[in-house]
Amino acid sequence: MYTFNRDDYNARTEWFRQARFGMFLHWGLYSIPGRGEWVRSTEQMPEEDYLPFFREFNPVDFDPKAWARLAKDAGMRYAVLTAKHHDGFCLFDSALTDFKSTNTPCGRDLVREFLDAFREAGLKVGLYYSLLDWHHPDYPHYGDQNHPMRNRPECGNENRDFDRYLAYMHGQVRELCENYGKLDLMWFDFSYGDLRGEAWKASELVDMVRSAQPGILIDNRLEASGEGFGSLATGNPTPYHGDFVTPETMIPPYQLMDAQGEPLVWESCITMNNHWGYCPTDRDFKPAPLLIKKLVECVSKGGNMLLNVGPDARGNFPEESVEILRGIGKWMRRNHDSIYGCGTAELPKPEYGRVTRKGNTLYFHMFENTLGPVPLMGVKPEQVQSIRLLADGHEIPVSYSWCRSDYPEIAFADLGPSPILPDETDTVLVVTLKEV
Ligand code: GLC
Repeated sequence: MYTFNRDDYNARTEWFRQARFGMFLHWGLYSIPGRGEWVRSTEQMPEEDYLPFFREFNPVDFDPKAWARLAKDAGMRYAVLTAKHHDGFCLFDSALTDFKSTNTPCGRDLVREFLDAFREAGLKVGLYYSLLDWHHPDYPHYGDQNHPMRNRPECGNENRDFDRYLAYMHGQVRELCENYGKLDLMWFDFSYGDLRGEAWKASELVDMVRSAQPGILIDNRLEASGEGFGSLATGNPTPYHGDFVTPETMIPPYQLMDAQGEPLVWESCITMNNHWGYCPTDRDFKPAPLLIKKLVECVSKGGNMLLNVGPDARGNFPEESVEILRGIGKWMRRNHDSIYGCGTAELPKPEYGRVTRKGNTLYFHMFENTLGPVPLMGVKPEQVQSIRLLADGHEIPVSYSWCRSDYPEIAFADLGPSPILPDETDTVLVVTLKEV
């Protein structure tokens, strides 16, 4: 039986807390209707109206190496692909179902190709696996909170055997953990109502996952969802506690701590537009500069960002997503030192931006310029070893201008006469502190 050990936990989460930035990929049959991954539920679509997509699915342009290059060039250090979403369609060659990608015209084990390509590109890899399954006959239908047939009395649950569904679900997770090489992350989704914790036989499931994949990180959604932190936050972790908290489509307003005041490991999963799955009518994409600042915000609060792409039915990333990834990558190439391995600075947030920290080095992120010299809040002049512009390494003088003389307790940086920041999205000053 798995029991929590803080030292093991800290060692296991080290790479995740260093990586800070990952790609989420929501892809499957729902990419064909293009109305999001919940389309069967939101439209209460009977299975027979969904099956044509199964008979048609054939992403002829799917090139996982190209996907991996886009993720790597954007500065992402890990990636998570939906192996099975709530619709029950499996992107992998499961022996336990016919509802899988190898039985579509595509005929490919998409999970295996994703894992191979992203590992080869040097990224850590994870799989998203839905605990819900709207295809499986033993999963609750009528009266369930989310099932597409929840309002159909004729879809009653009298003959459904939930234990048989759990055996199927555990069996598929075992397939993923035993047949696809080393997995760095298992991203379960999600618990709701009474379906949480041991209702999923979570202790047994986690024992199996951790035995098959020592060192794997598991998210908190065997006991929570995008809401709720899970038992690790209470200081009394269950055997199926999540290794990290998973706020969704938002960034926590402050650094997350557990009941003992230990920082919680967390990852905000964020869509680029407002859908996880491909949705061509949703053009509300977040611009790269905004997402760069949000990545900085996550890191400044001790967390990660998992940024989602919803590939289309041919296996291509939306053009907007490609452009956004390129914009983020351009900034990351010069400024990733202020992201990877960084965390909270334990300093007051400057009005012009945010601060991240790695040991004795502070990264002051300037989202807007100041009038006059730049106050390095929380840093005394005598503490400063050097100030450099991260993007090109050039020296930034400490300011001794008369106009800051009323604030001798604060170090100021002198960015020179131009009112325009070198990087209008985020100009990063590297402040190295003197060894004390
Ligand atoms: C929510 C959505 C689900 C999505 C997940 C990503 O649970 O319902 O479709 O996969 O968020 O975090």
